[in-house]
Amino acid sequence: MATPLGIALLGMGTVGSAVARELKTHADLLAERSGGPLLLRCVADRDPLRLRPLLLSGVALADDGAVALARRDVDIAVELIGGLEPAGTLLHQAVQSGLGTVTANKAVIARAGPELAAEVRPGSGGLAFEAAVGAAIPVLAMLRDSLRGDSIRSITAVINGTTNYVLGRLHGGESLDVAVAEAQRQGYAEVDPSADLDGLDAAAKLCILAWFGLGVSVTPDQVDRRGIRDLGPVDAAAAAQLGFALRLVARAELVPGGLDLSVQPALVPLAGHPLGRVEGADNVVVVESDLAGELVLRGRGAGADAAASAVLSDIVAVARARREGRTVPLPPAVPAHVLDPREAETASALRLRVRGGTEVTGIVTQMFEEHGIPVERTTPGPGDGDLLVLLGPAARDTLAPAMEALRALPVVEAVEQTLDRLVTRGE
Ligand code: HSE
Repeated sequence: MATPLGIALLGMGTVGSAVARELKTHADLLAERSGGPLLLRCVADRDPLRLRPLLLSGVALADDGAVALARRDVDIAVELIGGLEPAGTLLHQAVQSGLGTVTANKAVIARAGPELAAEVRPGSGGLAFEAAVGAAIPVLAMLRDSLRGDSIRSITAVINGTTNYVLGRLHGGESLDVAVAEAQRQGYAEVDPSADLDGLDAAAKLCILAWFGLGVSVTPDQVDRRGIRDLGPVDAAAAAQLGFALRLVARAELVPGGLDLSVQPALVPLAGHPLGRVEGADNVVVVESDLAGELVLRGRGAGADAAASAVLSDIVAVARARREGRTVPLPPAVPAHVLDPREAETASALRLRVRGGTEVTGIVTQMFEEHGIPVERTTPGPGDGDLLVLLGPAARDTLAPAMEALRALPVVEAVEQTLDRLVTRGE
């Protein structure tokens, strides 16, 4: 019988509790798959109430993650605290002290992943973080292992379950605040849901996808980012009227001159695009590469069990590697030139409040065309005096002066909303 490997679990929140539960209920299966028993030796959390279910379980309890990591009977650290600190310091401690390390922490991995990777000790089992992106969706494994002969051009994704859930509720007519409270109740949102609503969580995940898929080292502050706080049911109604869904779209694309990196709310065609029908907290990742073409991965992107699925898989992979004196592989990453957002091309959708009769559409169209921006479609919007305008692709640099001229038109009372629109290939 192989020697057991000891696990220290840091963080007993929703994901930590699910992992602790499954380490017990799936113990035989996990032992078989990882080449020997895995024993939960110690659980650390600052909140004693969260540790209460483990009293009398025989598992050691600690209020300090560093103490758990320093135990002699621990071989694998599982960090599920989330957020930058103390999680970041504990992850450095874990890899530097030669523990196999598993984390779901997108915030730390997006900022310090390559640095942590360089600190991994040979034979330790290594560092794995599949749960950091897309929870149950094995997207990092796919990017790392399955496209070794391909050049990936772009990754386009819905990778924040909370915002997708919230946007879905806006489509049902609910207000943003009510929808966010429900996402928190369902366990999708971060402790501070600002990270979800402001697109930070998606930006962190996008950086990790760009590392594994495009081989580049980028950080969340390089992402052209806009969240969903200023969206409401009226925007969802306007999008639906035009045949689109509102999504928070994360995109990394290698273009001539650099890397286009953005997280933006966008109108996505309801029909004919893989991002069009992503329900609830599901995530979808679309990868475009030269040989494989378009690959679409879809699944549960948030929630305790979905994240636990990826964490357990990583624990097995790291345990196997440790038993075999290896580390799980991590792809190299090189710095990239990230394009200035003003250089990027965008197709916009506008909701205007206008005054006047049938002549308004002609005036607005003529103004955009004078700025070299084609108007693809106009239609009355959901509210009184609303006009919806779909523009063709244009550089953001070109769009800015046209928007200024639009605001100055006497027939335009207000520009109520400006959103990007995801243009499907062939359009
Ligand atoms: N808050 C995250 C989300 C959890 O909503 O996607 C999963 O990473």
